[in-house]
Amino acid sequence: MIKISPSVLASDFSALGAESIRMEKSGADYLHLDVMDGRFVPNITFGAPVIKSIRNKTDLIFDVHLMIDEPLKYIEDFKKAGADIIVFHAESSSPVAETVDKILECGCKAGISIKPNTAAEVVFPYLDKLSMVLVMTVEPGFGGQSFMPETMEKIKTLRSEMKRRGLDIDIQVDGGINEKTVEIAASAGANVFVAGSAVFGAEDAAAEIAKLRSLAEKAF
Ligand code: DX5
Ligand code: ZN
Repeated sequence: MIKISPSVLASDFSALGAESIRMEKSGADYLHLDVMDGRFVPNITFGAPVIKSIRNKTDLIFDVHLMIDEPLKYIEDFKKAGADIIVFHAESSSPVAETVDKILECGCKAGISIKPNTAAEVVFPYLDKLSMVLVMTVEPGFGGQSFMPETMEKIKTLRSEMKRRGLDIDIQVDGGINEKTVEIAASAGANVFVAGSAVFGAEDAAAEIAKLRSLAEKAF
């Protein structure tokens, strides 16, 4: 199923609660929350307390993207803050298997993210336990960058491995997703689309979400 996950990185941080409500009313499926620690990526955003502060504003599924160096240490904090899906990077310093298990133990859905230069095969050993694989379509760290089409091969590789093993796992793309790129990613096999600037930069967020969804549905 196609899902649209607006990234609050491009929202008005002074009104994060209202922005979350606006996304729910605009037809978003998930709310994408980009946590950056200034170590794993060269940027700092927000952590668990900020996520907790908006948890009672919306029923949207919280899709938490951890761009942090030691995710294992903080899984419980993000669960307590209201995360539904926790996605961490395979390239972080935490042991991957243990981090996946910790997320599942906490009762969240688990996802692994890979940067543009990381091979798809890195996540193969964990697929049985995952709800989602995030294939970054830009180098993580900043919103508003250009989509990297060369990452599409990895989506095809992942989708065919999932099919071969009979697994129904979401493939998420994040970075530079807009009306021009969403079809490229959907036709490669992605079904969950993060969009920051495209949705928050649009005059009408609801129309933009609907447009991205219909383009993706046709191309998937
Ligand atoms: C980048 C973040 C993205 C970012 C996407 O490191 O993971 O979620 O907000 O922003 P856009 O859609 O503007 O490329
Ligand atoms: Zn993200």
